[in-house]
Amino acid sequence: MNIKKTVKKTINFVLTPRGNVKVSIASISNARRLENKRIVITGGGSGFGLEMAKKFIEEGAVVLICGRNESKLKMVSEQLGKKCLYLKHDVSKVEDSESFLANATKLLGSIDCLVCNAGISLHECVIENVTIEGYDAQMNILMRANFFLAQAFIKICNDNHSNRDLLFISSMTGNAPSEIPYGIAKAGISSMVAKLNREHYAKGIRVNAIAPGMSPTELTKSYIDADNGNMYCNAPCGRYFYPSEIAEVATWLLCDASRIIGGEVITCDGGCTTKNIWH
Ligand SMILES: NC(=O)c1ccc[n+]([C@@H]2O[C@H](COP(=O)([O-])OP(=O)(O)OC[C@H]3O[C@@H](n4cnc5c(N)ncnc54)[C@H](OP(=O)(O)O)[C@@H]3O)[C@@H](O)[C@H]2O)c1
Repeated sequence: MNIKKTVKKTINFVLTPRGNVKVSIASISNARRLENKRIVITGGGSGFGLEMAKKFIEEGAVVLICGRNESKLKMVSEQLGKKCLYLKHDVSKVEDSESFLANATKLLGSIDCLVCNAGISLHECVIENVTIEGYDAQMNILMRANFFLAQAFIKICNDNHSNRDLLFISSMTGNAPSEIPYGIAKAGISSMVAKLNREHYAKGIRVNAIAPGMSPTELTKSYIDADNGNMYCNAPCGRYFYPSEIAEVATWLLCDASRIIGGEVITCDGGCTTKNIWH
């Protein structure tokens, strides 16, 4: 970032009226809520995926992360220790979904939970900025890839093993006039969650999604930068959210204590996208 931009950002930040946001974030530690669960996380090399991998291991799980960048995965796996395995896999290559899960099963022994987290966003903001290539790239990863990976997971879950989980990382934009086509793909996830859970809960596969609010990760870096860091000043929650907060909710959603929750999209945005009818 050049000096002019930094100065402009700082001035903007200082001059923007805001109240102090006071929040204390707690986490439940070492409750062994995911003891012996074998969990596959797509896009586990950074952001939410990385935080989930860390947290799930802390709670007793063995995880397998995937992504396109092998050196990133290797580094994370070395950092997290022998309970973090990895496989290089591009989720947009949907024809490889079944072989990916077969390879993951070989490494883990079995798969209890699949977290469909991998994603990209091009942050076009308005429809006029959307290109055909950009539309296809986002739909491919956020919708098509998740659809066929979910299908492959359901196909391998035919062994009467109960308490399996399919968890999607959606977005608050799936339920708000915010980003397209990114938000359209995320809205599609809600439909998939409802249908798949209705069909498969009784067969032992619970399906849910988490719809996070804005969190500072690689995916949002350019967005947050362009907004001078002030994006959330006027939002009811007044802040960004940490990937570790999403990992906390994901842990609860994958543990058997929350088995009553199925077919839900849990919005995790401090209430930012709730509708305001009266002031
Ligand atoms: N950050 C937010 O504010 C926010 C808010 C709501 C929802 N989300 C959702 O949260 C999920 C995770 O995003 P993040 O914020 O944690 O961003 P991130 O740090 O950029 O992580 C995205 C991960 O997805 C992987 N990925 C991307 N394309 C892939 C592909 N074709 N095949 C396999 N892996 C792929 C990337 O790894 P490689 O580059 O190695 O492939 C990366 O590790 C996404 O679904 C995103 O839409 C994010």
